[in-house]
Amino acid sequence: MAYRNGDLMGRVSVRGVSRRFVKNGVSHTLALENIDLEIEDKEFVCFIGPSGCGKTTLLRIISGLDTPDGGDVFVSNEKITSPGPKRGMVFQEYSLFPWKTVMNNVIFGPLMRGVKKEKAMEEAEKYLDLVELTQFKDSYPHELSGGMKQRVAIARALANEPEVLLMDEPFGSLDAQTRNSLQCELLKIWQKKHLTILFVTHSVDEAVFLADRIVMLTARPGRIKEITVVDIPRPRNRTSMEFNQLRNHLLKILAEEQENK
Ligand SMILES: Nc1ncnc2c1ncn2[C@@H]1O[C@H](COP(=O)(O)OP(=O)(O)OP(=O)(O)O)[C@@H](O)[C@H]1O
Ligand SMILES: [Mg+2]
Repeated sequence: MAYRNGDLMGRVSVRGVSRRFVKNGVSHTLALENIDLEIEDKEFVCFIGPSGCGKTTLLRIISGLDTPDGGDVFVSNEKITSPGPKRGMVFQEYSLFPWKTVMNNVIFGPLMRGVKKEKAMEEAEKYLDLVELTQFKDSYPHELSGGMKQRVAIARALANEPEVLLMDEPFGSLDAQTRNSLQCELLKIWQKKHLTILFVTHSVDEAVFLADRIVMLTARPGRIKEITVVDIPRPRNRTSMEFNQLRNHLLKILAEEQENK
């Protein structure tokens, strides 16, 4: 486990973040406007909002892959100016190296950071065990199902021992059954590894199942419309009354925003 320095680790502060895309020297799209958000260490936060409202842009800014025009992002009290191993990313499309085995995909990040191969493999075994893929460590991505590839992507992100895991619709392309089982697996990993997770989804059901808090963004430009605390104890029952009440409330405000697009 990475060294953790008290309360500040894994804490994400988004302060007054705006992002305007410029085309041919002219302001083209205001994607995000004045986003303020404090996310606690080990919190699980889901982001929901209409397509094009800036969810991916916000995650990319927090990861350091993109830069805001206004405002700042701090992770563990450090200002973010570029990508770093403390922030792991998992995308919707399986971003694995197709020519590398599962094991070699997982150890790629640690090797880049200068970890010795033997040590990296020893650690990778633990992450592959966590995502239940030990027996596929010598397989290539094309030999795996979609859900398995996504589990490799999670193991690969975890191998960098991130403080914050940023996930952009990671289960979006999976069938409902695989998706539900990966949600349960992710919660187990989150509880075991004590990570902060920021998770973008189009599925209200997924957000209510996973999150401590749900951040609803407005249609473009993305602003914070509502932050909902999900105080339903885990494991959550998708058929319970409280689950359905919250789901219906969120679906209603999401539909309002879709209309504003
Ligand atoms: N590199 C870019 N150059 C120009 N415009 C961009 C760029 N990236 C995003 N945008 C614009 O910013 C807005 C927000 O895009 P973003 O991908 O963040 O939305 P999103 O909420 O993730 O959407 P979706 O739910 O469809 O994935 C969109 O209007 C998009 O066209
Ligand atoms: Mg997106």
